[in-house]
Amino acid sequence: MSRTRIHNFSISLDGFATGEPQSLEAPFGHAGQRLHTWMMRTQSWDPDGSDGVDNAYAERHGPGIGAEIMGANKFGPPGWHEDPDWKGWWGPNPPFHTPVFVLTHHTRPPLEMEGGNVFHFLEASPAEALETARAAADGKDVRIGGGATVVRDFLAAGLVDHMHLVQVPIVLGRGVRLWDGLEGVEEAFDVETVASPSGVTHFTFTRKTS
Ligand SMILES: NC(=O)c1ccc[n+]([C@@H]2O[C@H](COP(=O)([O-])OP(=O)(O)OC[C@H]3O[C@@H](n4cnc5c(N)ncnc54)[C@H](OP(=O)(O)O)[C@@H]3O)[C@@H](O)[C@H]2O)c1
Repeated sequence: MSRTRIHNFSISLDGFATGEPQSLEAPFGHAGQRLHTWMMRTQSWDPDGSDGVDNAYAERHGPGIGAEIMGANKFGPPGWHEDPDWKGWWGPNPPFHTPVFVLTHHTRPPLEMEGGNVFHFLEASPAEALETARAAADGKDVRIGGGATVVRDFLAAGLVDHMHLVQVPIVLGRGVRLWDGLEGVEEAFDVETVASPSGVTHFTFTRKTS
């Protein structure tokens, strides 16, 4: 059965998954790279990086994934849809290597990139988007890639089977918060935590089967 998974989704102690304001120069706003420094120090990102607890989690991001769903604000900075040449942040060969479904109210024709990457632009409910992504995933799992709004919407709709969340010991104070409106969401999941020597805490939320 194809599952819906989230990996390496990083939040501050106060629950923000990005800072503000988001821009071309600062995709995570005032958070800079602080939410993801833990990941950039692992071997899965940098061949000279660490091979410890953080890497063991980080490298679970790719295997078994057949499609990704992401939000419009992950795909580009505010106003990207007004630029017909905007093709995402990731250069000619993005790191997904699957179909990617960008949820947006500003749809455009599919964008085929190198390395098996095709961006599809979709205006749809989370359930409809998941059905479309599943059909494209060829029996594999679908990853919800963020940002915060899209992850929150999929959690609220009860569509997430597995979520790996990383709490980073910083306080952002402002940005886009993951948990708003999700009171009690943890009740549907078995939750495990592992504290890493790097200072981050890994949470896995696995949907209860009964
Ligand atoms: N912390 C992490 O691990 C992590 C991971 C990934 C991304 N990020 C960061 O998170 C930030 C983006 O998060 P965000 O919460 O601002 O935005 P987001 O979740 O990326 O995108 C939200 C936007 O997507 C569009 N959208 C969402 N649902 C839709 C639907 N059902 N139908 C049509 N359009 C829909 C809307 O944009 P329009 O109306 O404009 O089309 C909406 O404003 C970025 O800074 C990104 O770098 C963080």
